Amino acid sequence: MKADNNIKAEKAPVKPLQTRVGRGGGLVEDVGVSNVGVAPYYEDDYVKIYNSDCMTVLPNLIDSVDICVTDFPYGIGEKYLSYDDTSEGLKHLVDTVVPVLRGGCEITAITTGVKNLFLYPQPDWVMAWFSTAGTGCGPWGFCCWQPVVLYGKDPYLKEQKGSRPDIYVANEQTKKNGHPCPKPYGVCGWLIKRVTTNNNKVIIDPFMGSGTTLRIAKDLGYKAVGIEMEERYCEIAANRLCQNVLDLGGGI
Ligand SMILES: C[S@@+](CC[C@H](N)C(=O)[O-])C[C@H]1O[C@@H](n2cnc3c(N)ncnc32)[C@H](O)[C@@H]1O
Repeated sequence: MKADNNIKAEKAPVKPLQTRVGRGGGLVEDVGVSNVGVAPYYEDDYVKIYNSDCMTVLPNLIDSVDICVTDFPYGIGEKYLSYDDTSEGLKHLVDTVVPVLRGGCEITAITTGVKNLFLYPQPDWVMAWFSTAGTGCGPWGFCCWQPVVLYGKDPYLKEQKGSRPDIYVANEQTKKNGHPCPKPYGVCGWLIKRVTTNNNKVIIDPFMGSGTTLRIAKDLGYKAVGIEMEERYCEIAANRLCQNVLDLGGGI
């Protein structure tokens, strides 16, 4: 699989802080302004971005989405532009947002980080992705794995499509993009494909950051909705999303 820095098309300019409507008004039609309460920051045929607090807008659009793939803040003092990344703040987000996701999505998959994994309600399963190069340092030395908590049933088993592994090995380098902790593109792609059996599901990422989940979702032909409180990260995501579809070289 090729990383999203192999984009072939020229980058189109993005106008921040403006609502931009894609060709044909976009295909994620049922997630509109009226029911969400705020205008999308960015929109095209496949994706919509809301520059907002997900605690406010998520309840208004949860009925229009199917599957959550998201990357909550980790509560470890990461230096975001606006969000204060404390474990107390994370606890509040978990207590407020996870029930909405579990109530509205068939499957919710969350990359939680290791340190605050136990702030989350007991999941139905935990998967993991591994990085042989390490994902950082912790109290037990080099951390080489990251958990993914899952709420909901394995769609492959549910549809009698056979068993799939619950781990992924990531060897890619994550390219710096102006967000302090963008997820590896391949990890997000694996996760989306692991929690869906086809691309007719609408994906939601309420902690979108620089839009990695949305970028790979779009590349795989899914419709997706992202929410991010920090306008600068919405701008980064919009810039990634307005580039033409990638050549995935045979898929993930
Ligand atoms: C771990 S980062 C996500 C990174 C993302 N996966 C990527 O690849 O760029 C979590 C993001 O959640 C955002 N955030 C924190 N609280 C939020 C809230 N209440 N509503 C929306 N976004 C929020 C932060 O600004 C941060 O960008």
